[in-house]
Amino acid sequence: MMTAKAEAAPNIAFIKYWGNRVDILRIPLNSSISMNLGGLSTQTTVCFDDSLETDVVNINQQPATAEAARRVSEFIDIVRSLAGLTTCAKVSSWNNFPMGSGIASSAAAFAALSLAASKAAGLNLDESELSRLARRGSGSACRSIPAGIVEWHAGDRDENSFAEQLAAPEYWDLVDCLAVVNEGHKRVGSSDGHRLSYSSPLQELRVSDSVIRFNQCRQAILTRDFESLADVIEQDSNLMHSVMNTSRPELVYWNEVTLTVIQEVIHMRKKGLEAAFTIDAGPNVHVITVNKSLQAVKRHLESIAGVLRIVVAPVGREARYIEVDGDPS
Ligand code: PMV
Repeated sequence: MMTAKAEAAPNIAFIKYWGNRVDILRIPLNSSISMNLGGLSTQTTVCFDDSLETDVVNINQQPATAEAARRVSEFIDIVRSLAGLTTCAKVSSWNNFPMGSGIASSAAAFAALSLAASKAAGLNLDESELSRLARRGSGSACRSIPAGIVEWHAGDRDENSFAEQLAAPEYWDLVDCLAVVNEGHKRVGSSDGHRLSYSSPLQELRVSDSVIRFNQCRQAILTRDFESLADVIEQDSNLMHSVMNTSRPELVYWNEVTLTVIQEVIHMRKKGLEAAFTIDAGPNVHVITVNKSLQAVKRHLESIAGVLRIVVAPVGREARYIEVDGDPS
């Protein structure tokens, strides 16, 4: 038996990934930037065991759905082929945050799985190799491998499409104040969403000038310029949601509270508070702020009718191995 355990944080994209150039390899159409979410994590244990006849996948101590188990098995197949193994695996994964509603649970899940599965299979991958592997499970997972604020170079093939650190966690005290407005599962997952993105006439436009926004975002982070960061992340999020809204069939992730929170964030910024919104494939609103404005931003968000709760996350660390002894279960 070969066992390894790892932990990874989810991430929130500042410049979004939406649409693949090569779907099967998850090579994206544009480069993206994100921040790891500290305090939130997925812990995953992988055990290759000769006595198993099929892969066994448990998530939060429950057997995974057939769909989730298939996706994990296909991913383990990639690791098996890299390591020259045929053994089945037991995968046990545990999340300390709600799945499927705007916190990118698949990013943390596949980042942790990449580390645990490759280590258990006897592979010793470096950071960029791990990031490339994680990308195969879920594109955004490649950004949960390095620490802090991370850039994913789109590249055009497997070898050059991976993420690396742009700024260490302590470089800038950004905080994500996530306003949860719906805890349910998203109806259309991002894998299908990426495929649908081509059906929007706005996608080509979004992709063609994404380099401008990528560079502005990069610069804003390196110079700790909150105003410029707010300007670019809100536009980039609005552009991705405009593509979603104009796909066929349309993908509408927002609800009425999402819109109220957006308006309140714009209002807070006009009053001089550091606050900027960005939204992934769900209705929840990530409000990016800095430590000194955190309490005021949090209080304001809590006062909005329909906001269920606030999850606060500073800039998070890298995916890492955890020592284990014995069986994962
Ligand atoms: O990694 P995926 O396939 O779950 O796609 C993530 C897509 C967004 O979260 C909406 C944007 C992003 O860049 O994370």
